[in-house]
Amino acid sequence: MTTVRIALGDRAYDIRIASGLLDSPQTFAAVANPKAAALIVSNITVAPLYAARLERSLAPHFARVLHCVLPDGEEYKTWQTLDQIFTALLHAQCDRRTTLFALGGGVIGDMTGFAAASYMRGVPFVQVPTTLLAQVDSSVGGKTAINHPLGKNMIGAFYQPRLVVADLATLHSLPQRELSAGMAEVIKHAAIADVDFLGWLETHIDALLAHDDAALATAVARCCRIKADVVAQDETESGLRAILNFGHTFGHAIEAGMGYGNWLHGEAVGAGMVLAAELSVRLGLLPRDEATRLSRLIARAGLPTRAPDLGAARWAELMQVDKKAEGGQVRFVLLHGLGHPVLRAAPLADVQASIAAHLQPGPVTSAA
Ligand code: NAD
Ligand code: GLY
Repeated sequence: MTTVRIALGDRAYDIRIASGLLDSPQTFAAVANPKAAALIVSNITVAPLYAARLERSLAPHFARVLHCVLPDGEEYKTWQTLDQIFTALLHAQCDRRTTLFALGGGVIGDMTGFAAASYMRGVPFVQVPTTLLAQVDSSVGGKTAINHPLGKNMIGAFYQPRLVVADLATLHSLPQRELSAGMAEVIKHAAIADVDFLGWLETHIDALLAHDDAALATAVARCCRIKADVVAQDETESGLRAILNFGHTFGHAIEAGMGYGNWLHGEAVGAGMVLAAELSVRLGLLPRDEATRLSRLIARAGLPTRAPDLGAARWAELMQVDKKAEGGQVRFVLLHGLGHPVLRAAPLADVQASIAAHLQPGPVTSAA
């Protein structure tokens, strides 16, 4: 087992990474509370696969284990779905010692974290991520949120879990398209922080896409270490943490512009990184061959490298609703060479030219 520690003082916690963790009660001993309830929050796809197994591992540690099963999909990352978690908690008369367990991908993790942050003004929660994307990114670092029709992840809180349990075996049931989507965030970590890792990915991309356990274990641990280092320095994104949003200003615009759930988050980030690299080239920051190298890896991961044609006005409108914007000015994470991110505003003409250079031909389509 690999353990990565998130060094946040009295809110420090471990990320445990290995195959088979879900089935071992020992995995959860550190968060035991025999006098209180545990609530497993999952969705209609993941719960039938793993909720009973998680319940068996939690049962020795809690007075009772409850379940809340939500609909599946980014389009359900809403107030209405969040409210179902509060209803389940209140219905079962859960007190403030209740621990929430987020069993699923980033959608379940982000919503459960937000529910934990606000139920009775804060109860403990544990992330049990079951997608590659959630294991390498969303379960780590305490960003929790729901979407608003006007903007992605706009309502939420910084709230750290007590523990993250990344059972690599759960990735075997993950559809190929979702594995590719997770690769976007893996490539992102390499592009912003670790060029050696980027080289390693170029060698091991086929093994990763074939669900090779050893390759996945290396990639998950490497990403978690990179993210842990950034989060420990800047938990609430007053500066450095923004680099984790490489490709996301364009990506979030694609997700919202296409309607949540049509492009997967990772797919939008894949195309978004190509646009951000193009913008970096146009601003004289990134050599063209480095942008091409990145874009080739994104394509090999099975991700889109072209964006939908939303129309210039709609692109501008969507990117304006970005948490990195300051005083109405959108700021982009750009690359000053691979592995060297910078946060910059950019002239609109360069932004529009970068989008135009990588548009899907023909009518607007989904990424799949
Ligand atoms: P997701 O949660 O929608 O999961 C993808 C799909 O895979 C879903 O249909 C899910 O039910 C299914 N699934 C999950 N685990 C499975 C398994 N083991 N076997 C079979 N099917 C499984 O999507 P995601 O890609 O995990 O997460 C995307 C979300 O994460 C977005 O909402 C994004 O905004 C958020 N995010 C948050 C952060 C953060 O720091 N909090 C970082 C990155 C992304
Ligand atoms: N995924 C971006 C962050 O955690 O800051």
